[in-house]
Amino acid sequence: MLDIFKKAQENKSAVGAFNVSNLEQIKAIFLAAQNLKSPVIISASEGEAKFIGKKHLRAIIDSYQKETGLEVILHQDHGKSFETIKDSIDAGYDSVQFDGSQLSFEENVEETKRIVEYARSKGIKNVEAEFNHLEGQSALIEKIELKKENYTDPDQAKEFVEKTGIDTLAVVIGNLHGLFKDCQNPKLDINRLKEIREALGPDVNLVLHGGSGITEDDIKKAIENGIVKINVNTELRMAYTNALKKVLEDNPDQITPYQIMPSVVEAVQKVVEEKIKLFNSNN
Ligand code: G3H
Ligand code: ZN
Repeated sequence: MLDIFKKAQENKSAVGAFNVSNLEQIKAIFLAAQNLKSPVIISASEGEAKFIGKKHLRAIIDSYQKETGLEVILHQDHGKSFETIKDSIDAGYDSVQFDGSQLSFEENVEETKRIVEYARSKGIKNVEAEFNHLEGQSALIEKIELKKENYTDPDQAKEFVEKTGIDTLAVVIGNLHGLFKDCQNPKLDINRLKEIREALGPDVNLVLHGGSGITEDDIKKAIENGIVKINVNTELRMAYTNALKKVLEDNPDQITPYQIMPSVVEAVQKVVEEKIKLFNSNN
């Protein structure tokens, strides 16, 4: 993971972290990555991993990886407790994110430190964490007003990284989870990103969560200013569900999963390919 981040930083690109909870989504991501010769991160939140099963997820990815030879990382997305993270590491994940953003700063530091220690003892190279809570959820949501005082503060970011020893920080700079139902999601505060980058230096990897609904221009500027991983979920969920609804509406008598699902896989693959190109991680 850290090598991929390093290369991404040198090439002014970012790696997409795409969320999954089933086989069709994994298949779509592998097809996109293979087509565009890109590394990818496959992420699963606690709920997503619970549905597919962590060991099954590992085994399916291993199988695709063996067949394609692609650089693919299995990543714990928003692990909310030490137990979740430990369970994922023990199931063979390559990389983890602890999300202690609901804890106080001090509690978050202590818990993150404990996780970094466990992860290191198991040979995990990349530990991601955050201390600002990212609003929203990966769905179509009502508009939320974001407050600048909740954006990542550069000095606090420095303190958090130094105290915890994490490799990677998820920043809050106007990003949020989900897509606003009735209007465009907010713009990113690129100046704040520059300040965070300056405070942390080039050795700390910066991640942008809430990759759905951010304008292409903002994504490019974010990458230009040090973002090396971009998480995308809502747009993939939407592509999946809309394609599934359409195929069922168009073919009401169709009951065969392998006849129904190809257009769903194709729809998800298309979004992943668009993101890979936008993030400049192809080839
Ligand atoms: O951790 C997952 C991401 O931050 C996804 O955000 O659903 O807005 O694309 P999104
Ligand atoms: Zn997220």
